[in-house]
Amino acid sequence: MKTLLIIGIGAGHPEHITVQAARALGRVDVFFLLDKGEHKGKLNALRRDILERHTTPGAYRVVEVLQPERPAGSDYRASVDVLNTRKRAVFEQLLDDEVADGECAGVLVWGDPSLYDSTLRIVEAIAADGVRALDYEVFPGVTSVQALTAAHRITLNSIAGAVQITTGRRLAAGMPDGVDTVVVMLDAQDGFLALLGENLDIYWGAYVGTVDEVLLSGRLDDVAKMIVQARQEARRRHGWIMDSYLLRRRT
Ligand SMILES: C[S@@+](CC[C@H](N)C(=O)[O-])C[C@H]1O[C@@H](n2cnc3c(N)ncnc32)[C@H](O)[C@@H]1O
Repeated sequence: MKTLLIIGIGAGHPEHITVQAARALGRVDVFFLLDKGEHKGKLNALRRDILERHTTPGAYRVVEVLQPERPAGSDYRASVDVLNTRKRAVFEQLLDDEVADGECAGVLVWGDPSLYDSTLRIVEAIAADGVRALDYEVFPGVTSVQALTAAHRITLNSIAGAVQITTGRRLAAGMPDGVDTVVVMLDAQDGFLALLGENLDIYWGAYVGTVDEVLLSGRLDDVAKMIVQARQEARRRHGWIMDSYLLRRRT
């Protein structure tokens, strides 16, 4: 039997890792570090920083692999399915080639494994197909949503209010019915611009928890332009952007 620990490490701040997760790191014989390419070297730097802080040097091996890319194409769902099939093949190969029977492998997941991350779905499928004897455990981490609300010193929900977490793509359909708070992740297109005039506040953050953190907030109609510019500037400076925002109906 091989064991895989899926460990949430927080979304940028090296101290946003739980005591339980930090202890789990100490059980791991081999870490799989899935490299996201040159622009995102800082994400891997955080992973390495976390390993250095919480593990004993020489007590484990590290295997770095380049994470497969999502193929281009207009059908987003289909391209994600292809990506996950590729990721599954990578995980299977790592488990077969790099982990001995009785050993424990670890994968460090950005934020928390339950939120917009496919690792759990992939590992569940690998464990279920019966090809190899695999057990797995999940360790929660601080999500980028929690990092964002803490950075802005706000609550996630209004009193007794409902919250929806969604993607930039879905926001194009408008503010969902029945909720007064929406958290938007994975927005490549300034999706908030579709909601101008809807009497909303926005709390936006890029690289939250890291040394590059940028925060902006205010009435959406007043600050939207500033956020568009800040996003462009961040992309220019870093080559990529990692941001999210919370929209709340004004009372
Ligand atoms: C694939 S999802 C992973 C989410 C992660 N599992 C979590 O728990 O936060 C990536 C998206 O999370 C958001 N995100 C992750 N880290 C962030 C950070 N430090 N600051 C702002 N947004 C972040 C961005 O919207 C990004 O597009």
